[in-house]
Amino acid sequence: MSDAVIDDVTAGSWRIRPFAVADTEPVVALWRAAGLVVPWNDPYLDIERKLTVQPELFLVGESDGVLVATAMIGYDGHRGWVNYLAVDGSRRGEGLGARLMAEAERLLAERGCPKLNLQVRSTNAGVIAFYRSLGYRVDDVASLGKRLIPDAP
Ligand SMILES: CC(C)(COP(=O)(O)OP(=O)(O)OC[C@H]1O[C@@H](n2cnc3c(N)ncnc32)[C@H](O)[C@@H]1OP(=O)(O)O)[C@@H](O)C(=O)NCCC(=O)NCCS
Repeated sequence: MSDAVIDDVTAGSWRIRPFAVADTEPVVALWRAAGLVVPWNDPYLDIERKLTVQPELFLVGESDGVLVATAMIGYDGHRGWVNYLAVDGSRRGEGLGARLMAEAERLLAERGCPKLNLQVRSTNAGVIAFYRSLGYRVDDVASLGKRLIPDAP
């Protein structure tokens, strides 16, 4: 697997590469601006945790050296997952989100992952049209969760 994927999305240089610790502040700022940070998830802890499990699947997208996109990918041996997919507000609609998802699919397929699952918050239902355009369908399931480690007191 190569470290960075370069393609020709814009006239400038665009590349996808694994997250590096120096990306922490721009990544958290991007997540906040994209509305992905909620009180019950500490984004710094989420980054710390990801760096202990498949850190090579935590991707950032850079354009001319500026961090403009993220995707946190994981494979649990049965399903693949993508969290924290975000593109900078000024760079949406250029195909960057689709390119990151394509790279997520490539990395997961390369690991033998048969299916990618996504969870979309009910407050963010508008984004479902984006995923539908990439071939995703709403599964007939109820999504359940149980918090094991509270981030917030
Ligand atoms: C969702 C998000 C990552 C999409 O990134 P993007 O770079 O703007 O998306 P793209 O330009 O790659 O769009 C790919 C396709 O989805 C469509 N699309 C993108 N956003 C859409 C939206 N909000 N509603 C409907 N269609 C949308 C595009 O028109 C395009 O379709 P096409 O290929 O037929 O032209 C971006 O809007 C974002 O960061 N949103 C805030 C964070 C968020 O909600 N993340 C998802 C959490 S589950």
